[in-house]
Amino acid sequence: MHFDAIGRVPGDPILGLMDLYAQDANPNKFDLGVGVYKDDQGLTPIPPSVKRAEQRLVERQTTKTYIGGHGDAAFGRLISELVLGAESALLREHRAGATQTPGGTGALRLSADFIAHSLPGRGVWLSNPTWPIHESIFAKAGIKVSHYPYVGADNRLDVGAMLATLSTVPERDVVLLHACCHNPTGFDLSQEDWRQVLQIVRERHLLPLIDFAYQGFGDGLEQDAWAVRLFAAELPEVLITSSCSKNFGLYSDRVGALIVCAANAEKLTDVRSQLANIARNLWSTPPDHGAAVVATILGDAELKAQWSGEVEAMRARIAQLRSGLVEALAPHGLAERFAHIGAQRGMFSYTGLSAEQVKQLRAKHSVYMVSSGRANVAGIDARRLTLLAQAIADVCRDRKSVV
Ligand code: LMR
Repeated sequence: MHFDAIGRVPGDPILGLMDLYAQDANPNKFDLGVGVYKDDQGLTPIPPSVKRAEQRLVERQTTKTYIGGHGDAAFGRLISELVLGAESALLREHRAGATQTPGGTGALRLSADFIAHSLPGRGVWLSNPTWPIHESIFAKAGIKVSHYPYVGADNRLDVGAMLATLSTVPERDVVLLHACCHNPTGFDLSQEDWRQVLQIVRERHLLPLIDFAYQGFGDGLEQDAWAVRLFAAELPEVLITSSCSKNFGLYSDRVGALIVCAANAEKLTDVRSQLANIARNLWSTPPDHGAAVVATILGDAELKAQWSGEVEAMRARIAQLRSGLVEALAPHGLAERFAHIGAQRGMFSYTGLSAEQVKQLRAKHSVYMVSSGRANVAGIDARRLTLLAQAIADVCRDRKSVV
């Protein structure tokens, strides 16, 4: 038979946690696995601004014909403004343009194929650790994947080691940077760190690929774009992958963009022609609904203001959960050990818990998190912080070493 020799590969470790969690009958279970935001009811809500935009689309949309290879032009313009800033000189000079993709992952996949096809021989440098799909997406495109240090064995950001390795990266290679809310660690660079990275990128003629999946979840919609805008303003060429999954709550609608910044309008058109060609062979034309929702929101001042408020509320809730968890751990003598949770940004925290402790948390307390010790803080039920702290204290009890 044709399929006889085909074996089985393990399921995705992050998505697999969703299934394991769903099957767990414990009413006190905690889902700190996949990166989705949850509200006080434990639900991943559709933001009211999104509902309003969808209502408008139902009433006003007249066709579902294909949209072009780069997607909805209004979406492309508005998402570029959100990322680069409405006043960006790049947009005025037609040096930046967005290609709509199925989610941020689609934008990464498009980047990988673009690098493999149009920039042959370039290696890609990823932070150690990084989101596991970064590793596989570039490797599967046939690109050499290397790593720069980011977080050390002591679970602390090691900027010195990062800069030292970046200084040795072969000239013209691609370096993937997380704009904010680093996945999986939650440790972000300071503005001074970013300036030093920029300096090396410039000196070694590296091509930055900035993954911007969590705009608004760190310090705010504008603040989180600071490094992206710095690089776009200071360098002639930058690739940015943007996702609307988290900040618009449009996870399943798959909305993202690959934004290219080029030295001039002519070169941008050349690069975009390649992207349209690659995209045609990947997904033909992108799905429309979610991007139409985003364009409806960003194109209407009142809806945009409402949405910004909703993003800010999610951001503030995550920040509260961070400090709440550290406070809940204090009676167990663990506030200092886990103080980094309060200082990290975005949905994720590299807790410093070992794979064994993560296993025990799941087996004994129905707490689900990634085996690397990454917890999705945005998935914590605020009403049960005490219970979660008790579970963490329980698995830390017999392991005195402070990570
Ligand atoms: C995560 O890291 O949990 C999210 O980015 C969702 C995903 O697709 O893995």
